Formats: sequence, C-alpha cells, structure tokens
Amino acid sequence: MKIKLPGQKRREEKAINESRTKEKKNNKSEKNVLSEKSKFAIVEAYKSARTNIMFSLSASEKKAFAITSYAKGDGKSTVAANLAISFSKMGKKVILIDCDLRRPNLHNILKLENKAGFSDMVGRMVVFDDVVNRDVLPCLDVLTSGTIPPNPSELICSPEVVRFVERLNREYDYIIFDSPPVGVVADALLLKEYIAGYILVTRERKTTHGDIEKLLQNIKVTDAKPLGFIRVGVTHEGKRGRRGYYYYYYYQYY
Ligand SMILES: Nc1ncnc2c1ncn2[C@@H]1O[C@H](COP(=O)(O)OP(=O)(O)O)[C@@H](O)[C@H]1O
Ligand SMILES: [Mg+2]
Repeated sequence: MKIKLPGQKRREEKAINESRTKEKKNNKSEKNVLSEKSKFAIVEAYKSARTNIMFSLSASEKKAFAITSYAKGDGKSTVAANLAISFSKMGKKVILIDCDLRRPNLHNILKLENKAGFSDMVGRMVVFDDVVNRDVLPCLDVLTSGTIPPNPSELICSPEVVRFVERLNREYDYIIFDSPPVGVVADALLLKEYIAGYILVTRERKTTHGDIEKLLQNIKVTDAKPLGFIRVGVTHEGKRGRRGYYYYYYYQYY
C-alpha cells in the first residue's frame, strides 16, 4: 500500500491543475493557427500581409524576415506560424525558425517536439538535417528552438548562424524567424544582418502607444528595418452588439 505524505496530495492536485491549464492554453493557441476552418477575413488578412511582405523582400533582394514585438505574449509566434503557413500555400519552399531562445513557443503552437533544434545546431551538438521538421505542411519546414541556452545573444551572433543562413538561402524561397520581444532584451535585433527587416506585432487592448514608440526607438537605434505592423486581437462588433471574431490588420511601415 502506498502511503501519501502530508502535502503530497496537494502537490499532485497542483500538478494536475497546472497540466490542465497548459492543455487549455495549447488548445487556445491551436485555435489561432490558420487552417481550413479559419475565418475568411483572417485568411485574407494574412494573404494581404504576405503580398506586402513579398514586395518588401523583392525590393531588398532578401529571402528572410523576422517577427518581433514589444513584449511577451503579444502574438509573435502565432503570427510567425500563420505567415509561414500563408507563404507555403503559394507552393514556395518556406522554413520557419524559432529564435526565441529564452521563451520558445512555436513548437507548442505547431504541436512539434522540441528535444533539439536551433540552439543545439548552432552549438554544433546536432546537424540541421537531423533536427529540422520536414513538411510540417506541404512546402513548410520548421526548426524549433532546441535546448534553452545560457547565452542566447552570443549564439545568435555566432559564425555558425551566418553559415546556416547562407545554406537556407540556397535551399528555401522564404526564411521566417520567430524572435523574442525587443522590450527587454535585444536578441531579436541581432538577426538584422540576415533579414530584409522586421514585422512588428501589436496586440489590441495590450500594446500601448508608449510600447510602440519604444519598440520603434529600439529598432532605430540598432539601424534595423521595420517592414510593417500586424495588429492582432482586434474584435469586430457584430449584429446586436455582439463581439465577433478576431481580425488582423497589416500596415505598411514608411
Ligand atoms: N489573434 C489572437 N487572438 C487571441 N489570442 C491570441 C492571438 N494571437 C495569439 N494569441 C494567444 O496569445 C498567447 C501568446 O501568443 P504567442 O504567439 O505565443 O505570443 P508571443 O510569441 O508574442 O509571446 C497564446 O496563448 C495565443 O494563443
Ligand atoms: Mg513567441
């Protein structure tokens, strides 16, 4: 017979509750990912963002761009996943990479394992071909973040990343980096050498004018290029004043 020690039951209940909360959060994340069931307006908004981004890329002659925002939880990873899905639907080869080495989430959103990924590859513990998730959807490959490293900033600047991006440029039509928020650490802006610029995510009822100002300021200081904004979580007042579904808007940055 197993004897339960005092406090053990409470700990077990807490663990069950935590795993339920995590499950609920994951289900919610899944709901925001583009699929056959997505609302027409959302699919169209991503298509329009895609067209604008394609123009920016062709002007800069680069295949890569990154997604960032001011704070955590703004919706960067969701937007990165959805843009990658939208780009892959054109039949072009797309790779999506989770470069948020402090608080990675892309693997949860896309329901992938994250035993090894970008950080392990840059640290030369594994090779790209062994860790990349091929054909997550037709034409879409995904590289998860991998083990959380002690030195994310150094890792992103390493010569290994330069070589890696050169390889991606040869093998893919579009390269999308999901990155950390720039409000706290500047990791995201270290990607600027490899990309045409940044898509900035703002969240309705969360991102303030001050946040946007600081976000643009941080980008300007490092001489990085903002490509445009994607505003998420915009609710639509439907008939009888009912709150409708979420809209996404894209604004070109001039
Ligand atoms: N458009 C949206 N509407 C509502 N919730 C969203 C939307 N986009 C993302 N979320 C939710 O917000 C949370 C954080 O999203 P995530 O993409 O991980 O943000 P970030 O990468 O900026 O930290 C997730 O639970 C996600 O499901
Ligand atoms: Mg994220």
